[in-house]
Amino acid sequence: MKNDESGMTRRDFVKGAAGVTAVAAVAGVGGVIVWDRTTQPEDPVDVWNATVGTDRILLAATMAPSSHNTQPWRFRVGSQQIEIIADTDRTMGKADPRLRELHLSLGCALENAVIAAAAAGTPVAVEQVPGSTGSPDTHVATLRFSAEADGADANADLAPAIPKRRTNRGPFDEERPVAADTLATLGALASDAVRVVWLTDADARARFTDLSVKATEAHIADTEVQRDSHRWYRMSRSDAEKYRDGITVSGANLPWAISLLMGLLPPTPDSFDAGWAKATNDTHCGTAPAFGMLVVENAGDTSAWVEAGRTYERIQLAAAMDGMSTHPISQALTIRDREVAAGSPGAFAGGLTELGGAGEVVLAFRIGYPTREQPPSMRRAPVVARA
Ligand SMILES: Cc1cc2nc3c(=O)[nH]c(=O)nc-3n(C[C@H](O)[C@H](O)[C@H](O)COP(=O)(O)O)c2cc1C
Repeated sequence: MKNDESGMTRRDFVKGAAGVTAVAAVAGVGGVIVWDRTTQPEDPVDVWNATVGTDRILLAATMAPSSHNTQPWRFRVGSQQIEIIADTDRTMGKADPRLRELHLSLGCALENAVIAAAAAGTPVAVEQVPGSTGSPDTHVATLRFSAEADGADANADLAPAIPKRRTNRGPFDEERPVAADTLATLGALASDAVRVVWLTDADARARFTDLSVKATEAHIADTEVQRDSHRWYRMSRSDAEKYRDGITVSGANLPWAISLLMGLLPPTPDSFDAGWAKATNDTHCGTAPAFGMLVVENAGDTSAWVEAGRTYERIQLAAAMDGMSTHPISQALTIRDREVAAGSPGAFAGGLTELGGAGEVVLAFRIGYPTREQPPSMRRAPVVARA
């Protein structure tokens, strides 16, 4: 029987899963995890090392990236399984009109949970619930403890990166490209349903940058998208501490002195967005040596979106293990989805297809070597119910 570094065995795990009361206690009392440069940061690695059994698998899921740090997940835990449920009170509304990002975020959480279980010697069989619609209480996937699951293809070696990876919004090293064979290795982590396209030449990067800058302007001009996006802005330290989610000032990874000033005098969402538009061009796209795109065959295939989330998480973790960072840049996809949902696909749909090829681009991100450390983002405690 395999042990992880905390000495946990499969038997301990199942015992832990049965002890849902303990999980609920952690979730309800001691489980509030706070980390942010504006608060007293608790190192996620310390939290990770102090957590074992089912709690660690749930912690891994909640440590996943999610759009606007919405953390749109809940969990139902039984003795033989963990179910991942979409929390549709925590969507981005008009800023994610097809619930694409919701499903991608859930895929990231699912992948972290699978990797954490495999690393603990308790591999799971994953049952994705097909055709999840994102309707309230949608059950998206089940991790089932199974004697047949050997975990051999579960990428357990990526587990150490779970508490370390960040979405890094600072400048990347412009002098240090990501080697072609490194990108090929990362691309090979894709699920069957997902194709990875790398944009490395100057022309393709310029076209993606142009699309992203125009989409950021369209985003800022769209009052409904802005309203639902701003719902997740936590510009003051007190809001960040109260909600433990969302977009914070420290998440922008600005130079230290500017972050400090903004901590003292919080920006309005609109002034924060003015900085975001400039950073999209100058920093996010401007310093990126490469962009990645995840493409799926059929538009609107929610199961493929979950697989794309799993793929992104594997790529992000593997990149982090090698000193790289990734950072989704979603504006062109958001505005494309807005147009698709309104029944009139326009220039963003066309521009993304030109870059991504046949199928639909469901996530775009930059990848490179960061020049500034990204502080960890806030997390809520896992919301757990007994199955
Ligand atoms: C589907 C998806 C889309 C995202 N889109 C963006 C984006 O457009 N811009 C951005 O800065 N971060 C984006 N993110 C990153 C989240 O904002 C980030 O994961 C969250 O704030 C938590 O921070 P962390 O990843 O450092 O833990 C996205 C993440 C996911 C999963």
